[in-house]
Amino acid sequence: MPMRLLGLSNASWPARAKARTACPAWRESFATGHAGIDEDHQRLIELLADSWRALADDALPKAEVRRRIEALDAFARQHFSFEEQLLAHPGMDAGHRDRHIKGHQRFLETVQGVLDMVENLPPDVCSHFMDFLGSWLVHHIRETDKELARQCVLLGLPLA
Ligand SMILES: [Fe+2]
Ligand SMILES: [Fe+2]
Repeated sequence: MPMRLLGLSNASWPARAKARTACPAWRESFATGHAGIDEDHQRLIELLADSWRALADDALPKAEVRRRIEALDAFARQHFSFEEQLLAHPGMDAGHRDRHIKGHQRFLETVQGVLDMVENLPPDVCSHFMDFLGSWLVHHIRETDKELARQCVLLGLPLA
């Protein structure tokens, strides 16, 4: 069952959900107000677009598809580690910290699930994967990362 391999439950994907037709692009409304986080997000979106194009291109060698997803994975790990250092600051809301870190883990588990089967990814799983990554990133930036930036402001942490 491919969706299970991706770490996605059936409830994650409504039966009539349609895959996105375009990869999300950076928008000013994504800005959190933390310069370091925003700079990372712009790069993360570029790397997501690279993986998105690779997964949609049947003619691309699977080794190249893998290379692009690994680049996304490596940068996501670096970025999440940066945010989690901020989350570890005394005074951060513990509930937010736990939910935030779980969100990062879910993203990385999904990327790993795809890497594990990248040579034999069925097209429908590709589109679910792209949909998941695009939706996750937009939602996470708008809700979770903006909340982190708000807490940095409240705690007087540097915003760069
Ligand atoms: Fe985050
Ligand atoms: Fe982030």
